[in-house]
Amino acid sequence: MRAPSIALHLTMRAIVYSQPGSSSVLDLVDREPASPGPDDVRVRIAVSGVNPTDWKARSGGVPPEFAEVVPNQDGAGVVDAVGSDVSGLSVGDRVWLFLAAHQRPTGTAQEFTVVPASRVVRLPEGIGFDVAASLGVPAMTAHRALTVHESGPAHLAPGALAGRVVLVQGGAGAVGHAAIQLAVWAGATVIATVSSDDKAELARAAGAHHVLQYPDAGLAAKISSLAPGGVDQIVEVSPTQNAALDVEVLANHGSIAYYANNNGEEFTAPIVASFAKNARWQGLLLYTVGPEPLAAAARDITAALQDGALPVGADAGLPLTWFPLEETASAHDAVAAGATGKVLIRVADDLV
Ligand SMILES: NC(=O)c1ccc[n+]([C@@H]2O[C@H](COP(=O)([O-])OP(=O)(O)OC[C@H]3O[C@@H](n4cnc5c(N)ncnc54)[C@H](OP(=O)(O)O)[C@@H]3O)[C@@H](O)[C@H]2O)c1
Repeated sequence: MRAPSIALHLTMRAIVYSQPGSSSVLDLVDREPASPGPDDVRVRIAVSGVNPTDWKARSGGVPPEFAEVVPNQDGAGVVDAVGSDVSGLSVGDRVWLFLAAHQRPTGTAQEFTVVPASRVVRLPEGIGFDVAASLGVPAMTAHRALTVHESGPAHLAPGALAGRVVLVQGGAGAVGHAAIQLAVWAGATVIATVSSDDKAELARAAGAHHVLQYPDAGLAAKISSLAPGGVDQIVEVSPTQNAALDVEVLANHGSIAYYANNNGEEFTAPIVASFAKNARWQGLLLYTVGPEPLAAAARDITAALQDGALPVGADAGLPLTWFPLEETASAHDAVAAGATGKVLIRVADDLV
């Protein structure tokens, strides 16, 4: 099946940059939408999701590998054309995308993007594009963090984490929010840490069973009293600040899945306490984790969506901040400034 002929006539709006720098390098331009290759899908984007990785890639000081890059890894919309070798996706399908701009210049801050079909996932009935555009980076990272343990499950499903205690450091962050929701859905007892009363409300709204505030010299004792047998799995955003605490509250054979360098580039961990607990320090990076964990995440996230387990919005613990496409620079700045919740870009008014 070939791309419909409308592609030859349409122009679309796209946000692009060709040099690294502040958000001022982002330009709004008109472009002709590309046609999909044999293994690709073209998606009409409804909502583009912004993550820290998007502004970090843009401002990283390294010239982009492509002459012109459209930013933003995450997004959601409607399939508009499919390549000749693609199966399982059809024109008109409502979908979410992940890693749209990984080693490609084809991010979601544009009205149409062309990506490999392997990065496009069909949405279950009734799931909004706001939820869908919030999934990619946060939910897949959270999924990996919850499934990469020595004695835990490789897949998430109701009951998969039953009997296990999960500690989510930074429960009001986008990844933290998804980790709480997925862990609760999978049956874990979830403890979350946050830095303020407002964020505590959000972590509770996401479903955390226990919410504690940091910094607090008594935090380890509080966690241990909630989890006398120790914490089985920790989802860690700031190993620099939390490594010693993590080991202190960990169960024997527990794991600490760390995915970020917030508040520091290095960490030290107590050696004897770590090996005495057979602790596993498990790093993870979505860009290099490989296709199987990504496919597993897409499958399990779809099941969680079908169960209604991943809502967004302030009532669900993830306030949404919206920008129009032409204000993508402001959206990047909001994420870089640490906006609480999820920053989304409305790309197609008629679809949202
Ligand atoms: N490895 C990967 O593949 C991967 C994937 C996704 C994201 N990331 C990275 O992960 C980080 C978070 O992403 P995000 O989208 O979740 O960002 P976010 O929404 O800004 O959340 C970050 C959260 O971390 C919390 N935090 C910071 N220091 C903390 C500490 N010492 N203890 C507990 N919580 C702490 C923050 O809370 P306070 O501000 O209240 O302290 C905030 O809620 C970013 O650096 C991002 O680049 C990496």
